[in-house]
Amino acid sequence: MRLYSSIIIAALSVIATGAQTISGQYDCLPAGGYTLCQNLWGKSAGVGSQTSTLTSSSSQSVSWSTNYTWANGPNNVKSYANILSNSAKGVQLQNVASAPTSWTWSYATQSSGIRADVSYDIWLGVASSGNPATSASSYEIMIWLSGLGGIQPVGSQILSNVQIAGHTWNLWKGPNANWQVLSFVSATGNINSFNVDLNAFFTYLVQQQGVSASQYIQAIQSGTEPFVGTANLVTSTYSVSITRK
Ligand SMILES: *[C@@H]1O[C@H](CO)[C@@H](O)[C@H](O)[C@H]1NC(C)=O
Repeated sequence: MRLYSSIIIAALSVIATGAQTISGQYDCLPAGGYTLCQNLWGKSAGVGSQTSTLTSSSSQSVSWSTNYTWANGPNNVKSYANILSNSAKGVQLQNVASAPTSWTWSYATQSSGIRADVSYDIWLGVASSGNPATSASSYEIMIWLSGLGGIQPVGSQILSNVQIAGHTWNLWKGPNANWQVLSFVSATGNINSFNVDLNAFFTYLVQQQGVSASQYIQAIQSGTEPFVGTANLVTSTYSVSITRK
């Protein structure tokens, strides 16, 4: 009996720590303090497929990867496979003391001619809660750690070489549906290891871009927007949290 029970315990621990892969258009997986979602919202603009794999997770951090092959519609985003923090939300910008984040990622494989970004998508609104890209959204704040193949954010570039959180950014701005999009695009190419306090961006938005300090952070997502190409994008570690004043 002792032998059997240790075999059962070994099998359970494999299930608990083994990688899980999702493939459906809007599949999501609980991932410790986070949620991993495929979000293949633009797939009908092209031809292809994508899967996302949760490697490991805890209340603090998460490891995951996504594999995709997309063709056609070179100017259309096909998806935003992403990690959403379940707890870093519901705080007004004026009440953020710090919002530390750490993201280490790389392309394990990558086709030539790939068009894709690797980005944060941070949603702000008047109400304390609201789903991303809905009537509750006032601002979409993107932070592009990578943008390959000549792709551009929504709107037009309004500033270049802005220094925030130890990195240099080009700032893009424009409307989308009922919200404003402000996108910070790395001016120095890929940032594969990103360890910053997001409050540096929030403070900049309030002090320099007219964003109301009473806006609530409704969601912090991090992921990738492929247009076309084939890749295996690996996030070896990601975390984000908010400490209130
Ligand atoms: C993702 O792509 C990598 C590299 O090609 C491969 O080793 C891995 O098995 C793929 N994972 C899934 C779930 O398809």
